[in-house]
Amino acid sequence: MASEKSVWDSNIAFVLAMIGSAVGLGNIWRFPNVLYSNGGGSFMIPYIVSLFILGISFVLVEYAVGFKFKTSLSKIFFTIKSRLEPIAWFIILVVFLITTYYVCVVAWDLIYVVLSLTKAWGANPDLFFTVSVLHASDSLSGITTIVPWVFISVLLVWLSSWFIVQKDLNEGIGKVSKILLPILVLIVIVIVAFSLTLPGASIGYTQIFTPNWSALTNLNVWLAAFGQIVFSLSLGMSIALTYASYLPEDSKLTDNALIVAFSNSGFEVFNAVGIFSILGFMALTSGIPFNELVTEGTGLAFVVFPQVFNVMGPWSSVIGPLFFLCILFAGLTSLMALLEVASFAISEKFGFSRRKSATLVCIVGFCISCLFSTAAGSYLLGIFDAFLNNFALLFGVFLECIIFGWIYNFDELVEVLNSHSTIQMDPFWKIIIKYILPVCIFVLWAQGVYSTILTGDTTSHMVMLALAIVLVVVPIIFTLLPAKNEDYYKPIQDD
Ligand code: PFF
Repeated sequence: MASEKSVWDSNIAFVLAMIGSAVGLGNIWRFPNVLYSNGGGSFMIPYIVSLFILGISFVLVEYAVGFKFKTSLSKIFFTIKSRLEPIAWFIILVVFLITTYYVCVVAWDLIYVVLSLTKAWGANPDLFFTVSVLHASDSLSGITTIVPWVFISVLLVWLSSWFIVQKDLNEGIGKVSKILLPILVLIVIVIVAFSLTLPGASIGYTQIFTPNWSALTNLNVWLAAFGQIVFSLSLGMSIALTYASYLPEDSKLTDNALIVAFSNSGFEVFNAVGIFSILGFMALTSGIPFNELVTEGTGLAFVVFPQVFNVMGPWSSVIGPLFFLCILFAGLTSLMALLEVASFAISEKFGFSRRKSATLVCIVGFCISCLFSTAAGSYLLGIFDAFLNNFALLFGVFLECIIFGWIYNFDELVEVLNSHSTIQMDPFWKIIIKYILPVCIFVLWAQGVYSTILTGDTTSHMVMLALAIVLVVVPIIFTLLPAKNEDYYKPIQDD
């Protein structure tokens, strides 16, 4: 039997869940590096332009579609044109596969929450991370060797995500967002306030406010800004669409979208002040040039920061665990949202209860994540990330622009949005979605595909080919499988 349609019990639950879905690893460890390598202070111009013109515009499409149709992406695409259903399953599958490795990064972080209590990484955090934690091999050769601690941690992260997502919407995602998000903000405030008191902090934070104006004439800087907005706002992943489908009728759409987008960007800029100040302190203390410290991703979190904590003195026993807890909470709230997309789509098509579809999704997801718990895990993860983020996800967003902007009657979305918002949308919005956004996405996509193909080795190309085949075959299978829920094939009632 199909589960009862979930509805948020308050606007604040929706807003916090949306902010939680956006604030994630991308805000904490991706943004500082992107900001620094693309002109420092002047990067804020393309960043703000991308946020307003492209990011918020697309989020609004997702809000309007989710709110209007109140169902999953696959059913929405089926309703617009039945032949579009495989595209929806393609997007859902991409999001699901991203989830399987995102879990693994959150699991590494969980290990570091524990390690940071005693600074167990020792004097060489780089070697410790690759050899002692990951047992990393730089090819597929380690795929048969499970790394026990990573495996246990991955299992724990999957179990906690399952526990949250299988519950009733408000009891699970709603409640956890209301608890974790304020704690997350509090932790970041403590870290930033402390970081500003460190000697050398100004070496770091002035970088954010020192503009390199010539960077603005570089197309790559604009693409980087746009790429950050896509990643950070989780654009096109159908998260906003899914969460907005649970909104009650009297909700304010545009108002909520603006609150979420500004909170997400505010969070990442504020957090960057702390990260840069801490790196400024490290540059002063260790003599390592600042530009060598501002690395991205795992390098920043699991190598550079442990190095910083090694020289920070007694405060590192507080700031260290807080830093890793911050990543853990940001990661968990994003994970819940990523999981909800597939879980909701499956329950809508096959008529499963919320609990059953969440359980199914988590079991299959856990099995795939086991691949990343092997000695070849970090190697594979790099390939999955490059392919799914640079290629597949952007391709999905491009198709969504075409479907909502060109195939569907876009004016209906304008009407939905304007009749449920204090702020009214300008007709320029339509031009952005129909013309500007698809062109920008296409250029970003072409750039990503080019660099992904150029930088990979033969094995990585084979893995990507296998992924591409999966991304074609599985969506077709899901489309062909008959819906158990008869409502699935019925046209959606217009209000
Ligand atoms: N926006 C979240 C983050 O910045 O981490 C969630 C997310 C975005 C997860 C994009 C994965 C992803 F590929």
